[in-house]
Amino acid sequence: MIIRGYRPADLPDLYRICLQTGDSGEDATPLYRDPDLLGHMFAGPYGRFEPSLAFVAEDQAGVGGYCLGALDTRAFEQCLEAEWWPGLRLRYPEPDPAARDRWTPDEQLAYQIHHPWRADGDLVAGFPSHLHIDLLPRLQGGGHGRRLIERQLAALAERRSPGVHFHVSAGNRRALGFYRHLGFTELRPGEHHVLGMRLR
Ligand SMILES: CC(C)(COP(=O)(O)OP(=O)(O)OC[C@H]1O[C@@H](n2cnc3c(N)ncnc32)[C@H](O)[C@@H]1OP(=O)(O)O)[C@@H](O)C(=O)NCCC(=O)NCCS
Repeated sequence: MIIRGYRPADLPDLYRICLQTGDSGEDATPLYRDPDLLGHMFAGPYGRFEPSLAFVAEDQAGVGGYCLGALDTRAFEQCLEAEWWPGLRLRYPEPDPAARDRWTPDEQLAYQIHHPWRADGDLVAGFPSHLHIDLLPRLQGGGHGRRLIERQLAALAERRSPGVHFHVSAGNRRALGFYRHLGFTELRPGEHHVLGMRLR
């Protein structure tokens, strides 16, 4: 198993891993009709716009994990607003707000394409970077998550980031245990945990 920098040919692997770990760490394939939707939100833009902060774990079976980062969350959001979401908005129409309580999981993600998440100002003031980490089951539990995230933190520190944050769903107890074990702390309470770490 090696950890290496992202290459453009890895993009389909980012999408596949994102989907196969996208249901609070479990396989989200049965949840979505369109297998690319989750990757459009949480994987593709990082390979495209922050390739130097994208790291993958690869074994004989291929790429099976990644840690994706964005140095400046606010600048990243603005970049996606200009370059990423407009094309997707043409492909995925905004679902009818009047039918919100009947939206399918695909429609819920399509709504987010039209109304992307924006990180809180006070959060990005102290912890401007963010990251995502996902490993397929065959690579979990062997120390590769720690290696991947340490590689990401070193890269962010080298780029002089003062701090990094990320969101974890309350249902993902395993990931929460992992992050706490590695020294990340809760930055604010809530249904979706926000964790982070100062880097200098
Ligand atoms: C969560 C995840 C990234 C962790 O990576 P991993 O490779 O399984 O974890 P590692 O084997 O590198 O564990 C690193 C350390 O954390 C500890 N650890 C792992 N899970 C833990 C838990 N739930 N509670 C406490 N400690 C934990 C390990 O014992 C290990 O300790 P050590 O290095 O001091 O010996 C990985 O399991 C994963 O991708 N899961 C599915 C997708 C997912 O949930 N992503 C996160 C979305 S927010």
